[in-house]
Parts: sequence; C-alpha cells; structure tokens
Amino acid sequence: MTTDSSGDVRLTGIGKTYDNGFTAVQPMDLTVPQGSFFALLGASGCGKTTTLRMIAGLEEPTTGTVHLGDQDVTHLPPYKRPVNTVFQSYALFPHLDIFENVAFGLRRRGIKSVKKQVEDMLELVQLGEQARKKPHQLSGGQQQRVAVARALINHPKVLLLDEPLGALDLKLRRQMQLELKRIQTEVGITFVHVTHDQEEAMTMADTVAVMNAGRVEQLGSPADLYENPNTTFVANFLGTSNLIEAEVDTKSGDDIILKAGGGKLVLPEARCSAPATTGGKVLVGVRPEKISLTHADDAGSIPEGRNRITGKVADASFIGVSTQYVIDSAVCPEFAVYVQNIERDGRLVPGADVVLHWSPAHTFGLDAAQDIDAGTEEEAA
Ligand SMILES: Nc1ncnc2c1ncn2[C@@H]1O[C@H](COP(=O)(O)OP(=O)(O)O)[C@@H](O)[C@H]1O
Ligand SMILES: [Mg+2]
Repeated sequence: MTTDSSGDVRLTGIGKTYDNGFTAVQPMDLTVPQGSFFALLGASGCGKTTTLRMIAGLEEPTTGTVHLGDQDVTHLPPYKRPVNTVFQSYALFPHLDIFENVAFGLRRRGIKSVKKQVEDMLELVQLGEQARKKPHQLSGGQQQRVAVARALINHPKVLLLDEPLGALDLKLRRQMQLELKRIQTEVGITFVHVTHDQEEAMTMADTVAVMNAGRVEQLGSPADLYENPNTTFVANFLGTSNLIEAEVDTKSGDDIILKAGGGKLVLPEARCSAPATTGGKVLVGVRPEKISLTHADDAGSIPEGRNRITGKVADASFIGVSTQYVIDSAVCPEFAVYVQNIERDGRLVPGADVVLHWSPAHTFGLDAAQDIDAGTEEEAA
C-alpha cells in the first residue's frame, strides 16, 4: 500500500432504498484504502452489488456520498468516474479479437498508437500469445482475464469486480483467485471484489467486509475475522464455529469463568465481545480445528487448564488430511471437531465416549441475545 490516497474509496452514510420501498443497503460508512484488495462478502441478496453499483455510479444512492480520494463523485455519471467494473458475464465484443477488445477503451478516446499499451496489458494477464484469437476461442478463465485487461488499460483508480469468477468451475476459480491477486499486487490499484464465497474472499483480500441484510457486520483481515468474530453471523458464515450457551459465573484475573452443562469453561475477557456480568448469558465459541479429542478411558492424560466437555462420537468422516467428527454433547448437540491425520485413534468411532478439550486462549465470547444459527447453511436453506 502507498501513502497516496487518491485511490481511496470513501463511502459516507451511503444507503439505498429502491423505488418499491425496499432498503437494500442501510446507511453505512466504509473506507477502502488506496492500493488494497478489498472484498465485500455476504450471502446472495445482502446488498453487495447495490453497494458496488453506487461506487460505479450505476445506481444513485438514496442517502450519503461517494468520494474517490478527495473528489466527491456522488453526482458524476459512471463514465466520468476513474472507476471500471468487471462483471460475472465477460461482455467481450464477440466480433473483435482479443487485441481489439483490450484496445477498445483507448481507441474510443481517440488514442492512435495503442500497440505497446495493449501488448503490456496482455502480458500482465498472460495472454500475449492469444492476441489474434476471438473471445469464443478462449476458455472462461482466459476470457475473464481479457475483461480485466480491458478494464485496467483505462488506468482506473479503482477496479470493481462483481462475482467475476462466478461462472468458472472450482479448479479454474482457484487458479484465477491467485492470478487476480498477482495482477492487483503488480498494478497496485484499489480492487473492490464482491463475492458470496468466503474462501474466495479470504484467499484474495487484505480486508474483508462481511455484509448481512444491507449492513456491514464486521470488517477486518481474513485472519482477524476468523479468529475474532464479533457476531454469530460472522462466526458461522466464515468457516464453522461451535457455539455453546453459557452463564457467567465469576471473573478471575483476565478470565471470565462460565458455567455450561454442569462444567466450567474459561474465556479470556479480552476475547469476549459481549458484556459479561455474573448470572448473565454469553455464547462461547471455538473453532473445530482448535479442539483435541481424547477417548474417555484416557481422560486422565489431558493436561490441566484446558477447557473440556464430554460427549459421544455421533459421526466420523475421514477426508484424508483430517477426520471430521460430529460429537453429541449436553452443551451443544452437533459439536464439530477436525483432527489432523497424524496418528489416528481407532477407538474414536460412532458411539465412543470422548472428552473434547482446547486451550482457553482459543475461546471467543459473543452476545447471547443473537440468533445462534445466524449465517449457518441450515439458516440459509
Ligand atoms: N432495482 C431493484 N429494485 C428493487 N429491489 C432490488 C433492485 N435491485 C436489487 N434489489 C434487491 O435488493 C437486495 C440486494 O440486492 P443486491 O445488491 O443485488 O444483492 P447481492 O449482490 O448481495 O446479491 C435484494 O433483495 C434484491 O432483490
Ligand atoms: Mg450481486
């Protein structure tokens, strides 16, 4: 990232209510720093495209302003904004070859000598050899790279990408994620990438804004969002979380001591995003890969100081690198535990009595007034 702020995208109080009275985006503030790879992540219908279209000038905000650097662009038409958009449908010109597709923006501005710039752009997206082919002769991923080159040749300050990889199959999508990330690093301009795929957002972006029902629920680096979710929606939408309803018992130093299903759990106070008062409720969260699984017969070997819960193996799926267990426990009906495939304990089969245990440091706390299932696939279905 640079100290130049001319490519900052600054949304202030921006909101959109459509003519039918439906509010797709609640008034919000959002700053995307110059040179960052920023992802807007959320389920279908949460307002991502509407937000992007307001930045592009394709949708008029009901409230608020859009700034690019110091410039207020709220009332500028799309073509006067230093912004280009790449959509899921590549919208290449079928009758023009790749070279002419990429040259289009330059020619339209009356620029005669386009050769060097177009060649550099094709080089950037690694399509130098394909210049004289027609779009239909390229794969989906290659066509999408042409669309990126065609947008970047206009030297926008900001590139907006609306689910650009949505039409590609999984393997190609993974390749293109890395490819787009490389291109962004090379050109250094601000990318705002919209996706509903949490893995895609986490792979590509420096900063992710998780959207839900027209609001940004939480904003942060992928690791920060994953390790320190502030809401049940973020905890469940990014990966998998086990959430346990617990009651605050007491405080001890920097820790909160909680009661859950007859046992005690320790939660560092700094990792609790909810107010914790004695007798109050908190949702205790822990990620599946942070948990160890020990057969009940060996419970004595578990070190002191770890959070522990007893349960019964309900299901075990061996997937190669790990085994994914579902554990039935009194405090949480379907506890997910991922155990790395190093040495497998053959006794951990459905029906086995087990102890789940993890470090208090890997525990997070959430406000118990929320829907515990927000952001889960069951909820979406
Ligand atoms: N022109 C429109 N008129 C009324 N409602 C719309 C319009 N465009 C989008 N919406 C609604 O606004 C919500 C957000 O849409 P959108 O921004 O496209 O979401 P996303 O890109 O996250 O899937 C959806 O419920 C959608 O149906
Ligand atoms: Mg959309």
